[in-house]
Amino acid sequence: TFVVTDNCVRCKYTDCVEVCPVDCFYEGPNFLVIHPDECIDCALCEPECPANAIFSEDEVPKGQEIYIELNAELAEKWPNISAMHDPLPDAKEWDGVPNKLQYIER
Ligand code: SF4
Ligand code: F3S
Repeated sequence: TFVVTDNCVRCKYTDCVEVCPVDCFYEGPNFLVIHPDECIDCALCEPECPANAIFSEDEVPKGQEIYIELNAELAEKWPNISAMHDPLPDAKEWDGVPNKLQYIER
């Protein structure tokens, strides 16, 4: 499965959503997640993310392993998103800022 990680937080570009053939992205106020049971591992979303926030489960950057569980947990709570929309207004400013876990709104 693929996992959305730290750099998506407060950016939410949503380019990833547009290419997913099974619509397995779920949307919170300032972060997106992938439902691990629905992802078919096609890898199409990974290169689409301008923030490079998507990784295969076994390639999640060191220190960001928590995001594997977080994607599974929040995908059960948040509504599905199947179409791209504008990024958050200050996405550019937050792109690349480390340790954004603390900012995730639920
Ligand atoms: Fe969707 Fe494919 Fe990305 Fe999984 S790897 S979330 S199926 S685009
Ligand atoms: Fe997030 Fe990247 Fe998608 S910033 S919303 S994972 S395109």
